[in-house]
Amino acid sequence: MIQIKESLLQIKDAFEGQLNNVKTSSEAEAIRVRFLGKKGELTAVLRGMGTLSTEERPVVGQIANDVRSDMESKLQGVIHRIEAEENDRTLVEQKIDITLPGNAPPMGGRHPLYKVIDEICDIFMNLGYSIAEGPEIEFDSYAFERLRLPEGHPARDEQDTFYITDKILLRPQTSPVQVRVMEKTQPPIKIVCPGKVYRSDALDSTHSPIFHQIEGLFVDQHVTMGDLIGSLRLFARKLFGEDTKIRLRPHHFPFTEPSCEVDISCWGCGGTGCRICKNEGWIEVLGAGMVHPEVLKMSGIDPEIYSGFAFGIGVERTAMGRYGIEDIRLLFENDLRFLRQFR
Ligand code: PHE
Repeated sequence: MIQIKESLLQIKDAFEGQLNNVKTSSEAEAIRVRFLGKKGELTAVLRGMGTLSTEERPVVGQIANDVRSDMESKLQGVIHRIEAEENDRTLVEQKIDITLPGNAPPMGGRHPLYKVIDEICDIFMNLGYSIAEGPEIEFDSYAFERLRLPEGHPARDEQDTFYITDKILLRPQTSPVQVRVMEKTQPPIKIVCPGKVYRSDALDSTHSPIFHQIEGLFVDQHVTMGDLIGSLRLFARKLFGEDTKIRLRPHHFPFTEPSCEVDISCWGCGGTGCRICKNEGWIEVLGAGMVHPEVLKMSGIDPEIYSGFAFGIGVERTAMGRYGIEDIRLLFENDLRFLRQFR
């Protein structure tokens, strides 16, 4: 019995000695395993209790329990202290300054031209139109012949159109998409086609060799000029506000008959005259007309049964009006100081 008691106290001493040198929680764990674990020294000693008499056993048992709980609580104390220290250390080492502003990823924004395109397409989609597309590199048959632009027409001149070969060119308008849609679809047809067009114009504040149009086409039975006017009036009001008026001026396009140019009342002055409309009170934004019967026929649609209207909206002009942009070049120069204003 004396021997067991002594062993217990020795273990306790050894334990405390080692505990004093512990610096990390893994060292503390190693000591726990060594002294208090199932295969630890204390357990080994307690196994020897079987040799004791029944009177001795409770006495030694008591001592053993006291020693164990003393060791356990000392170990706990050390573990707490180490954890607190380790915690403090990580806080210092991994210090972050939460007052620094974060690194915001640079966010892009929609280009003003495409905002206007989206808005216009939305208006027509709400009227039941769908979006069509066509190539920017086009055959002259679609760009000219089947739109009734005969050879010798000024638009076919190399001064106006970029040719790639004799027969292939950069489309100078989105109207060829009318033909492409009609040759594949029987009426009713209701499409808008936004896209880039190319003309051999010198760059200045109102002209650019690349610009955008939105072509519209509606073909069905009994479509009239009244439908065209009603649709365009609705479009103008939706885009520029309920008080907007439209004005049609007779014009000539080879692929529509009758044809017109359409002005809308100036968004700057409402029609009384200002700098934006150069005192006209009106601003031209699109060309339109009733699809020429020969164009329908060439595209495989019977003009005896069907009629239709078409229009082509100038996107740059519309965007410049919408946002008060005075120089078309701003739309193509990719200057972020300019573009950020539309985010
Ligand atoms: N394509 C014509 C232009 O570029 C506009 C237009 C489209 C006119 C459709 C009539 C019908 O000016």
